[in-house]
Amino acid sequence: MSARRPLVAGNWKLNKTVKEATALARDLKGRLAAARNAEVAVAPVFTSLASVKEALAGSAIALSGQNVHFEDQGAFTGEVSAPLLVDVGCTYCIVGHSERRHVFGDTDENVNKRVHALLNHGVTPILCVGEQLEEREAGKTLDVVLGQLALGLANYPSAKAKEVVIAYEPVWAIGTGRTASPSDAQEVHEAIRGRLGEIFDTETAGAIRILYGGSVKASNAKDLLSQADIDGALVGGASLTADTFVPIIEAAG
Ligand code: PGA
Repeated sequence: MSARRPLVAGNWKLNKTVKEATALARDLKGRLAAARNAEVAVAPVFTSLASVKEALAGSAIALSGQNVHFEDQGAFTGEVSAPLLVDVGCTYCIVGHSERRHVFGDTDENVNKRVHALLNHGVTPILCVGEQLEEREAGKTLDVVLGQLALGLANYPSAKAKEVVIAYEPVWAIGTGRTASPSDAQEVHEAIRGRLGEIFDTETAGAIRILYGGSVKASNAKDLLSQADIDGALVGGASLTADTFVPIIEAAG
């Protein structure tokens, strides 16, 4: 049994008005009022963060950003910075999500800068890594995933390393209804933990939570989460209603 506390994070992506997001937050707060082993976080769009934070007051559900710019302030039209995420109550922030990498051109280098910006302000990064279908079919899964991991964590201070969260999200499984089999996912998670051991040390690697993401739903959550190196889930589509999200959290304990 690992001592790692499971984390289930809902990535709401570009969905929900302020009213819809706060309604969902209130619903989750009510249904998740009892103390549980799994930790829960939600990542609404930037415009809903403040209202969702207010709706979650008094609950243990954490707030996460979906992305962050690496500079604190200045002439960066359209961006949001780490101090602003702190200001609104975020304790987590997703970085390097595949949609950021593949739709908006985020590179390993700027993902690493975002990670450091978060660290500088005490926000825990949820660093996403994952291969595309062609890469998997070409047998390059581990090269791609472990490469993104090492570059995303470049110069990460070991004293703070136990807190970082990694999310393995095979790109071909995101929003497609296709999920990696529990054993395929476990194989990659184990390799990620092995590489974390090389980057930091074995003890640190053993404390870092590695989430799985990609079409996680109530029906597959238990099998995925029972794998030795899967410490939670990053959930997109199924996190958009309490009816589909809560059973995943329950599966995490
Ligand atoms: P999905 O998204 O659960 O809808 O596949 C996961 C993610 O992109 O984080």
